[in-house]
Amino acid sequence: MPSLQGRTALVTGGAGGIGSAICRRLSLDGALVVVADLDREQADRVARGLVSDGGRAIAVGLDITDQDQWRAVISQTMETAGGLNILVNNAGGARIKPLEALSVDDWKHDIDVNLNGAFFGVKEALEALRQTASRSPTVGAIINIASVSALKGSAGMPAYSAGKGGLRLFTKAIAVDFARRGYRIRVNSIYPGLIDTPLTKPLFESRLKSGSDESLESARAKILEQYPIGRIGRPDEIASVVSFLAGDDSSYMVGAELVVDGGLTAA
Ligand SMILES: NC(=O)c1ccc[n+]([C@@H]2O[C@H](COP(=O)([O-])OP(=O)(O)OC[C@H]3O[C@@H](n4cnc5c(N)ncnc54)[C@H](O)[C@@H]3O)[C@@H](O)[C@H]2O)c1
Repeated sequence: MPSLQGRTALVTGGAGGIGSAICRRLSLDGALVVVADLDREQADRVARGLVSDGGRAIAVGLDITDQDQWRAVISQTMETAGGLNILVNNAGGARIKPLEALSVDDWKHDIDVNLNGAFFGVKEALEALRQTASRSPTVGAIINIASVSALKGSAGMPAYSAGKGGLRLFTKAIAVDFARRGYRIRVNSIYPGLIDTPLTKPLFESRLKSGSDESLESARAKILEQYPIGRIGRPDEIASVVSFLAGDDSSYMVGAELVVDGGLTAA
């Protein structure tokens, strides 16, 4: 039997590069997947793809920075799927600018999408996750997608680093709290290095703009030089770790930080 058969997973940013890979993997594992994204059309496309491959999926429009939208999406999930076992806070984004160029709005945007969105998600999904776990033999899981930018300073990304750094300790604080209170929900986080998705394009472009590189190819090569593994990561290499944290093979993991970065932070 697939490892997540009978469980429901909600994935934010489910239409994006890493998010759609997570949706695909959790669907292959047997979960009913709620593909949630600001980009409703693309979320629909991802959900339709999962269904045509034999999975069960629904698409919902969700701006993770809007608490009322979270409330509506959680009640729709409970009505449609009858429960919620897994929440993946994956949506995020970065304004790549040095501090002098970063406006207050840029700062608020990055804190909103990388930290506040996950806070709203956990706050609004907690009761549904607890209720579902209380009548299920398996415990619930919350998985927050942070970044290596939460572990080391990322030049040109002060607001993103602050948001992801905040997400890191938010994850640990609630992980400890929920475990101590016997909520039957495990909370863990993942720290991707450079993964091949649309999100990375502005990173390479910013090096061109600042004059550090002459072409996108050389910008990409310079960044990859820092990665001992010598290549960019694939979205499915994050999705497989989400699958592990969502399922029973990680049953003793609480507040853990899984770094998936080709050796960047080990070097
Ligand atoms: N790609 C990388 O190299 C990398 C590295 C480290 C961490 N991450 C993190 O992984 C996560 C996924 O990134 P990705 O590379 O797949 O990016 P992506 O740009 O391909 O996908 C991000 C998705 O999030 C959605 N989104 C953005 N703002 C939203 C909002 N307010 N509400 C709902 N959805 C919203 C977008 O519509 C998009 O579909 C992000 O949290 C990102 O910070 C990515």
